[in-house]
Amino acid sequence: MSEQTHANEHVAQTGGHGADPHGTGEGHADDNGALHIEKWEGIWIRVAIGMTVVFIAAITLAALSFGISVPGATARINPTTLTQEGNPFATPGIRELAPGKYEVYMVAQTWNFVPDRIEVPVGSEVTFYLTARDVIHGIKFADTNVNMMALPGQVSTLKATFDKPGTYNYICHEYCGYVAGAPIGHHTMYGQLVVLPADETAQAVTQ
Ligand code: CUA
Repeated sequence: MSEQTHANEHVAQTGGHGADPHGTGEGHADDNGALHIEKWEGIWIRVAIGMTVVFIAAITLAALSFGISVPGATARINPTTLTQEGNPFATPGIRELAPGKYEVYMVAQTWNFVPDRIEVPVGSEVTFYLTARDVIHGIKFADTNVNMMALPGQVSTLKATFDKPGTYNYICHEYCGYVAGAPIGHHTMYGQLVVLPADETAQAVTQ
């Protein structure tokens, strides 16, 4: 924009208004009632609206087409009843639902996970149900995107497929305390998920 046109615009704006009653000098209506928006401000408004539309579309697509969602509270549970008969957390561990499909009921407590070792064949789809017995814990499976909070009174759930054989440590990522002098505490709270390669799985089955 040349100096000349800019100067003319400025004259036109101030001329159209007389004194600017709001004193803001921008975004105000001209005599025709149309809102005046600077060129680059207008471009950025369109970019911001466009990005918001893209993000909402991406989240909707991920949720509806791929079933991707954030871990959520699926149920409430009284933490004092976890050991009672009939409570699914009374016997935490892994259960096979169908070939290649498992569910894991897991309890987080100071300072361990029960179970602290899980083995699944490669390619398995595992649904985790997690709750806490005492205080707030968290769980993060290293080298995966499996990451949940463990809250007393709440069941967190997440479904994950493990396609790469290996040992994945799961750690507590929410500070859950430490007693001075004790050998254990938050920093020792971890477990291991072992994803068995196909040949070892076949061996285990035939043995
Ligand atoms: Cu449990 Cu930190």
